[in-house]
Amino acid sequence: MNKTSLSALLPPARLLLLGYGHVARALLPLLASRSEWSGDQLGVRPVISGIGTRRRGFHIHAQGVEASLLERDVDPLYGFIKAGTPVDNAEAFIEAGKAVGATTLIELTTLNPHNGQPALKYIRSALQSGLNVITANKGPVAHAQHELQALARRQNAQFRFESTVMDGLPLINLAQFTLPGVGIRSFRALLNTTSSLVLSMIEQGYTREDAIARAKELGIAEADPWYDLDGWDAVMKTTILANTLLEGQLSPRMVRREGIRDLSPDEIRTAALADSPIRLISQAHRKHDLLIAEVRPGKLSKDDLLRVGKGTTSVISFETEAMGTISLVEHEPTVKQTAYGVFSDLVTILKQRAM
Ligand SMILES: NC(=O)c1ccc[n+]([C@@H]2O[C@H](COP(=O)([O-])OP(=O)(O)OC[C@H]3O[C@@H](n4cnc5c(N)ncnc54)[C@H](OP(=O)(O)O)[C@@H]3O)[C@@H](O)[C@H]2O)c1
Repeated sequence: MNKTSLSALLPPARLLLLGYGHVARALLPLLASRSEWSGDQLGVRPVISGIGTRRRGFHIHAQGVEASLLERDVDPLYGFIKAGTPVDNAEAFIEAGKAVGATTLIELTTLNPHNGQPALKYIRSALQSGLNVITANKGPVAHAQHELQALARRQNAQFRFESTVMDGLPLINLAQFTLPGVGIRSFRALLNTTSSLVLSMIEQGYTREDAIARAKELGIAEADPWYDLDGWDAVMKTTILANTLLEGQLSPRMVRREGIRDLSPDEIRTAALADSPIRLISQAHRKHDLLIAEVRPGKLSKDDLLRVGKGTTSVISFETEAMGTISLVEHEPTVKQTAYGVFSDLVTILKQRAM
């Protein structure tokens, strides 16, 4: 028996995809290209048991379709819709998915920075029904991380959100698995790739509108790009990091926010010409037991640790008790890196299930 037919005998890991936009479309080929690896290393065969979107409806496939088969379709969602059974709404989707044996909901719907809804409601209901949840959506995590983690623990399920902050770069996993107990005191970071791209393109003479169009084309901008430029995306990420790495209890409104909307092209270009380009900086630290977090534009001097890479590069620098200063850089990430963050969460879940 060859490897492909052997892998067909492996038990399925049934997945539900809620949201089928840039990230979900990048996840399918990744799942497909890692299917043999998943069989070898995890002893399972990931299959898609449901796909749901706001405009194209919610569809369940009782047997499930392998990512490699779906991915071969010119329009995988259309193929899935044709083969699947429609259900009424997201709640029915979760229920029907559970009934056909799905174990994990991958939540990839649009950011709502104000209250994380309706994704927060969907994640709650998936966890309540005992599904694991992976999300790349910052809203529900920034607004209800501790509640959702406690709910997951009670349900013996996992709630993972690595890709919410720096796409595929491990930050949540770094604190949990790689540097446990390292004692993170503070961080400074460039976390919003769209604003970095917009500022660097304005420095090169492009208009803000050109730069927003380019960020949309790359699939890195939020559905509403002003959520990037007004600092909302960075506030969500800063809240998640402060709560995860600095053991905070912050809500997004406790993070001071100033975006780049009011910066004029002249101001941006003059700062760059003076060798101190402006970037949207996220930071958090403790002062007398108080956790202070903020997002605002700042000038990066020549020797600033955040001044690495170009364009959309994300970077974070931590001050730690046990390891001094640690910095991580993700050079010019695209939506592929976000999909990898989701995949890495899936691997964590599948590995723990095997233990
Ligand atoms: N793109 C990135 O580089 C990146 C990086 C990190 C994190 N993220 C986060 O990942 C998530 C997905 O990003 P994306 O770029 O893939 O977004 P996107 O391209 O805008 O796609 C969003 C998807 O969510 C669906 N959706 C929205 N509201 C829904 C609802 N109420 N019920 C069901 N489906 C709903 C949309 O359905 P319709 O198309 O039918 O409306 C669409 O399929 C976002 O929360 C984003 O913040 C993205």
